[in-house]
Amino acid sequence: MLEKIESAARQAGQILLSAQDIRNTVTEKEGVGNFVTQYDVKVQQFLREQLLAAFPDAHFVGEEDTVHEDALHGLAFIVDPIDCTANFVRGMNHSAVSIALAQDGELFCGVVYNPYRDELFSANKGQGAFCNGQRISVSSRTLSEGVFCFGTSPYDRSLRARSLKIAGQLMERMQDLRRFGSAALDLTDIACGRVELGFECILQPWDFAAGALILSEAGGIATQLDGSPLTLDRPCSIASGNKKAHAEFLALGLGL
Ligand code: IPD
Ligand code: CA
Ligand code: CA
Repeated sequence: MLEKIESAARQAGQILLSAQDIRNTVTEKEGVGNFVTQYDVKVQQFLREQLLAAFPDAHFVGEEDTVHEDALHGLAFIVDPIDCTANFVRGMNHSAVSIALAQDGELFCGVVYNPYRDELFSANKGQGAFCNGQRISVSSRTLSEGVFCFGTSPYDRSLRARSLKIAGQLMERMQDLRRFGSAALDLTDIACGRVELGFECILQPWDFAAGALILSEAGGIATQLDGSPLTLDRPCSIASGNKKAHAEFLALGLGL
């Protein structure tokens, strides 16, 4: 299964790399600065065709659908065709294709592909996490030794102050911060030990599903800010990290 998903993700990545005139294909969705391009729609259509041809009985939950299928029962793909459309539109070369597969609400395959660096992160539940076939693992740095990345929940202005307050408090305890723009790639950066901790006050299941499985298979953990499990059928907050940094972060109670 994983091989088929990896192949679909790599091909989808080629659509991102060959995209032209992106700014002229932008339309706006609900929320502040929530853009969609014709490429988000094209990549999702491509993935739907590829993945459902291989697994015709699966549900397909894609960000760009207006009505979302059931992610909690049977086999379900949870797909973000382009994670960080804002970077994509701005030519920042830091966006990803994210595909997770769940069975009855349990994640068991995850693939996140960054075509700009040709980095394909993948995991099968119980079998470890890999980047381009090489095993990856989280760092062992503590909070005070670590760097954090975070998302600003950009489409919901009411969460900005809260996000920046948590970030400010972490800046007093950690080495530095990064805001890269892609929630999926934040999770894979933690999974391969580049970054120790991440958080966002609200994320959609397609932003984190694949990355969360890859992170846990790399020895890390992702929960909501209060420590409860992530939800695959509705948006939720996220706190992710290597286990040490994550436990220290939750113990501070900053996100509550
Ligand atoms: C967004 C990105 C961003 C995060 C947002 C997400 P999108 O995804 O992952 O980093 O801060 O919350 O919605 O909309 O560009 O696919
Ligand atoms: Ca996303
Ligand atoms: Ca997206």
